[in-house]
Amino acid sequence: MNYICSKCSLTMDVATKKSRCDCGGLWKLDFKPPKFDLSLLDRDNWSIFRYRVFMPLLGNEWENISLGEGMTPVIQFNEDVLLKMDYFMPTLSFKDRGAAVLISHCKSIGVDSVVQDSSGNAGNSVAAYCAKAGIDCEIFVPEGTSPKKIDMIISHNAKVNIVPGSRDNCANVCRAKSDREGKYYANHVYNPFFYEGTKTYIYEVYEQLNRIPENIFIPLGNGTLFIGIIKALEEFIESNIIDKMPRIIAVQSEYCSPFAKAVEMKTVKPVKVIPKPTMAEGIAIGEPMRGGEILEYIYKYNIEVITAPETRILEARALLASKGIYIEHTTAATYAAYMKYCELNGRTPALIPMCGAGLKSDH
Ligand SMILES: Cc1ncc(COP(=O)(O)O)c(C=O)c1O
Ligand SMILES: [Zn+2]
Repeated sequence: MNYICSKCSLTMDVATKKSRCDCGGLWKLDFKPPKFDLSLLDRDNWSIFRYRVFMPLLGNEWENISLGEGMTPVIQFNEDVLLKMDYFMPTLSFKDRGAAVLISHCKSIGVDSVVQDSSGNAGNSVAAYCAKAGIDCEIFVPEGTSPKKIDMIISHNAKVNIVPGSRDNCANVCRAKSDREGKYYANHVYNPFFYEGTKTYIYEVYEQLNRIPENIFIPLGNGTLFIGIIKALEEFIESNIIDKMPRIIAVQSEYCSPFAKAVEMKTVKPVKVIPKPTMAEGIAIGEPMRGGEILEYIYKYNIEVITAPETRILEARALLASKGIYIEHTTAATYAAYMKYCELNGRTPALIPMCGAGLKSDH
């Protein structure tokens, strides 16, 4: 199986240890799954790997690496809102969907040591799956990352480096180390295998509801859930399961909104922003590396990009907690944005992801 460079179209075997093409372009996968059909699932497997026929897996390493990720319930929160409980995961965030597939791939191509940068959750995930896979792991997090996320990473025997400055700077420092020391960059943004895992968010919704909801809210930082969802929906269109894209509403932080600004200014690249400190640490990405690709989707499918009002994040978190749902601040930001959206547009039935657990963030 091959990667294709998104810039110069060079092809490269997926066994490569190069995190991107020499021309600087990021890899895409040259992979087309079979038409989606629920009869193709492995119903005896109770993890995202029940959908593995739609994933580009090499070999069976996933069997020893899966921690039972996925299969998260969709609950009816109120008359309008369906919540997908993606914090019911081995490391308490949706990132396990992507990390399970990415680390299975790493194992199958003989990687024995990885580096990765993260606002915390992806680092938790990669550290946990590397621990299960017996792969050495070093994670870079920006200063200010929730101490509980850092503790979790350490508990999985990964090395943690706390990098001064922004999340974007943290990524640069990690990439420099990867380039310098030739360590595999097991990064959720760069590596296309991660998105093959986040696709399962939509597969599950369809299996659970037997339909795709008309309005889908998605937090948008680097876009790992966003891209996975769009890819899966495109597969569903190709498979005649749906005839058009549902309405997608992407949520950015009010204090860091390179995509919302790009749409406002009609640019083809995200607008460079210097993030102001926000409680929504998971989506505070000023320079999203797949920005051009994400904006193409945004324009192609008329995706709305809205921002989460910072002053209402705690209100949203308290509201959900008062109904038994304890989520982290970044996830509360998505709900705060939904509340604002309804105030402006009226009642809106929607599917909203509960991406990260409340026990992970302090503030
Ligand atoms: C809880 C939570 N929600 C949403 C996101 C956003 O994901 P992405 O940056 O892939 O768009 C993250 C990313 O770390 C996160 O931790
Ligand atoms: Zn290239």
